[in-house]
Amino acid sequence: MKRLILPAIALCLTAGMASQMSVPVQAAPQADAARGATLFQQRCAMCHTRNGKGGKIGPDLTAVMGRKAGSATYAYSSAMKASKTVWNAATLDKYIAAPTKMIPGTKMVISVTKPEDRAAIVRYLGAGK
Ligand code: HEC
Repeated sequence: MKRLILPAIALCLTAGMASQMSVPVQAAPQADAARGATLFQQRCAMCHTRNGKGGKIGPDLTAVMGRKAGSATYAYSSAMKASKTVWNAATLDKYIAAPTKMIPGTKMVISVTKPEDRAAIVRYLGAGK
């Protein structure tokens, strides 16, 4: 009997270790999305909503991914309305890094300097709607 149980325990331990080792890789995108949500709350939510009910100081950012800049129901700057930008991961990253540099005359003046923070926020904006 012992002869059968020991290899079985060894197998379970190995399998357990293997799944533990893969945890950081699997958990990374989730952790990043959660970080993006936190960063959004800290850096964006005082001006932007994500509930489709209309914005605050800035426009609502529900389903911002893939939409043309300046196309939600909101009193945009003429610079934003005239912009031909379509929001995707690259254009969002560029805008959040330096809004007035990318779209001179935009009313949004805050910026996020850390690339990893921008990446987390952009992933959060793209996740769900
Ligand atoms: C102090 C207020 C304020 C903060 C904080 C702020 N924004 Fe804005 N945001 C604005 C305003 C105002 C506009 C409209 C700009 C215009 O019309 O030129 C805008 C526009 C935008 C747009 C364009 C949306 C569209 O419909 O085309 C995006 C994207 C955006 N903000 C993302 C963000 C993100 C992400 C953050 C957080 C990192 C953030 N903003 C923080 C005020 C803010």
